Amino acid sequence: MTTSEELPVLGTESPVIACLSAQMRAIQAGGAIRRVRTPVGDEGWLVTRHAELKQLLLDERVGKSHPDPANMPKYLDSPLISMTVSSDHETARKNHARMRKLLTPHFSAKRMAALRPKIAERANAAMDQILEQGPPADLHAQLSVPVSFQVLCDLLGITEHDTFMSLLTAPTTVGASDTDPAKFPLFTFLAELSAHKRAHPGPDLTTTLTQAGITDPEVASLVAVTAFSYLVTPHNISVGIALFASNPGQREMVIKDPSLLASAVEEVVRMGKTTESFLPRYASEDIEIADVSIKSGELVMCDHYSSGFDDRVFENPDKFDVTRSPNPHPAFSHGNWYCVGAPLARVEMIEIYSALLTQLPDFQLQIPISELRINNDQLGGGVAELPATW
Ligand code: HEM
Repeated sequence: MTTSEELPVLGTESPVIACLSAQMRAIQAGGAIRRVRTPVGDEGWLVTRHAELKQLLLDERVGKSHPDPANMPKYLDSPLISMTVSSDHETARKNHARMRKLLTPHFSAKRMAALRPKIAERANAAMDQILEQGPPADLHAQLSVPVSFQVLCDLLGITEHDTFMSLLTAPTTVGASDTDPAKFPLFTFLAELSAHKRAHPGPDLTTTLTQAGITDPEVASLVAVTAFSYLVTPHNISVGIALFASNPGQREMVIKDPSLLASAVEEVVRMGKTTESFLPRYASEDIEIADVSIKSGELVMCDHYSSGFDDRVFENPDKFDVTRSPNPHPAFSHGNWYCVGAPLARVEMIEIYSALLTQLPDFQLQIPISELRINNDQLGGGVAELPATW
């Protein structure tokens, strides 16, 4: 029996790219669901295997509610996480379903087809600038970041790019227990954007939400959930660029047959996370699963990334294989939690890699993928730079 002092402590290892850290490998090898200690010292369950992760993501007894939010065990001490946890399970479930119903239509195949030409234009314009400047270039700062940010602003109808960027990436100064959204400058900015769109409608997601019979603060929280995708997307795109650079054979296959871009993107997403961060959930009832007993109120952390390296499901999981099929990676989550914006993320990645591999097919990274600098912040970290030459 493991005593609580011996529990593996999360957040103590340096981040690694496109593979599992030694700690995560050991945790996954030891069992599907393991008792761990979080970076803030609380105890919880970490789910690192594919089958059990999917099972728990489909289990309605696991969600974003806790009967006593002020004293719940925490993964991180962040108001951005605490504010997503409500005290009533049924209310949390209903609010989540409503949020998905309002957002999902914005990412339909028809909408994506309409957005695709503009995304391709943005990606090619960024590549034109890189080529005009000449080598070397930072493909993270000059390609992944500006294109994914511009695409997000286009989607939301935001023209004040500098203000939005600084609010989105600024560390929060609000205390961990203060979960009043009105205290967050980003939230105030988005509520004002909503009011503006009511008076001056545009062809964007924010305007459509203002026409759904909801208040400006409600629009602001839905737009904020969407906007936070920016903390993930450019980093995933950059890991993909690094994977193409360090796997020339796979890159060559995609250049010769661009129809492989779709499966290459799935493989990038499977391997693409850069920070050790988990999505905290709470059990609303006792649950027996995989030889463990999760008690009501306990913290359950879903590790979508490690589950994508589970060799019970993925053959040779450390290999970047642009033809991997099937590729049932859980990196966009599963069931009712499935990433609403996944269709947009896919279009963005396909258009960015297409522009890069067409205009600069023989780019090289100046440092190996294993030595890339990573900002180690579980909430907003990721690739710091991607120095490349050609
Ligand atoms: C490669 C890029 C992306 C990855 C890996 C990713 C991954 C995820 C994951 C794992 C979740 C589940 C969160 C949870 O269970 O609490 C999620 C949710 C979500 N994502 Fe993404 N995402 C990406 C890009 C995007 C983009 C571009 C957008 C929209 C602009 C977006 C919008 C959303 C929204 C609105 C949710 C909330 C869904 C819910 O709570 O039901 N994501 N994403």
